[in-house]
Amino acid sequence: MTVTIVGAQLGDEGKGGVVDLYGDAADVVARYQGGDNAGHTVVVGGEEYKLSLVPSGVVRGKTGVLGNGCVVNPETLFDEIDALRERGLDPDVRVARRAHVILPYHRVLDGVEEEAKADSDAEIGTTGRGIGPTYEDKVGRRGVRVGDLLDADVLRDRLEYVVPKKRDLYEVVSGTTVEEAGVESEFDVDELYDHCLEYADRIRADDMAVNAGDFLADRIDDGEELMLEGAQGTSLDIDHGNYPYVTSSNPTAGYAATGTGLGPTTIGQGEVVGIVKAYLSRVGSGPMPTELDGDDDDLATYIRDEGGEYGTVTGRPRRVGWLDMPMLRHATRVSGFTGFVLNHLDVLAGLDELRVGHAYTLDDEEVLTMPATTEQWADCEPIFRTFDGWEEFDSEAVASQGYDALPAAAREYVEYVESELDAPAYAVGVGPGREETIVRHNPFE
Ligand code: IMP
Repeated sequence: MTVTIVGAQLGDEGKGGVVDLYGDAADVVARYQGGDNAGHTVVVGGEEYKLSLVPSGVVRGKTGVLGNGCVVNPETLFDEIDALRERGLDPDVRVARRAHVILPYHRVLDGVEEEAKADSDAEIGTTGRGIGPTYEDKVGRRGVRVGDLLDADVLRDRLEYVVPKKRDLYEVVSGTTVEEAGVESEFDVDELYDHCLEYADRIRADDMAVNAGDFLADRIDDGEELMLEGAQGTSLDIDHGNYPYVTSSNPTAGYAATGTGLGPTTIGQGEVVGIVKAYLSRVGSGPMPTELDGDDDDLATYIRDEGGEYGTVTGRPRRVGWLDMPMLRHATRVSGFTGFVLNHLDVLAGLDELRVGHAYTLDDEEVLTMPATTEQWADCEPIFRTFDGWEEFDSEAVASQGYDALPAAAREYVEYVESELDAPAYAVGVGPGREETIVRHNPFE
């Protein structure tokens, strides 16, 4: 069977930890979208592993697959594999031949487009990893795929076609030449070709390239368990998020099929688990109706520090806000969550009271789900519900004793979310480690 893990908010909900928690029962962990813009932290035996591309399940010896829906920076891929090897692991990582490759010019273009948008305060606050420009080339049918790296003639043709166009684009957007800007190597066909041939050698040597759909379907036919690991979150989805402050892929569950080559019926026969953080955080620009700012700055700083809300990839401080229920109702519908995991409940411990954005007021109407345009979302005023706070507690002790050991006020909070989403909380995270999670249900069982 498959278990698909989807971020229900704006990324950074603690998906890596959940993949790690439930991944024990999985044989294969596959990513279906995104690239090295994801920041997954896994803590195993007190050791912390930070990964941005390689599926976090490989830390536990699972086969990790980057599906065709991913965009792959080979440099990051090899660096992460090498770093895991240096720590004594033997990661088994496969990459879809259909996945698109992030090349050096994509990162340069990501930066220059953000700079151009900054002139009108319209920057997205991307991770600068070249994600958007690579997906643009994919959809524009001018991308380079992993399979193309492995065929020197096709590769040469692809680069000769696309690179001059990218150089022109750079020069138009930046208003400088690549020579003046010192980025001529990133737009030099011969240099890129040589780099790509090196990538190809390594992919071949490590036997990484697969036809992901066939590979995964075979493993399911063999009776293996498959976890599909979404990156980012629903409100960053290119279709269902708050466009244009989104990433360029679909973190929502529908793409678990498209981005791996498994059928939607296969994904639908499994479980889809939404990952929810007990409050909200956001990296980058865009509205956030329940944001804690202004008079609430001190509280935001408290939650940010308690929750370690600094970007895994970029180190940027994250914006912080109260839980946004319209956002979660929207996420639950889009991905059809069969259950959810509520993370970081410990971070809110010690507050006298906490609030939840239960609904919004928009044009004098009460609305329970997210409006379709970002401008309307920015106009939404949250209607808050107030909850009693709970005392600090010993996370490991509570996790080992089980759900009923949580303070009553914390249980009330969990049960409110369950009833609003009409889905059960499969687990509750009360700390970063695996032993600090209250597990009520394992979707593989
Ligand atoms: P990009 O994916 O680098 O193009 O960035 C687009 C938007 O998605 C920006 O607001 C980023 O901050 C956000 N983003 C991308 N990846 C993550 C993530 O893993 N966690 C949180 N935000 C992310």
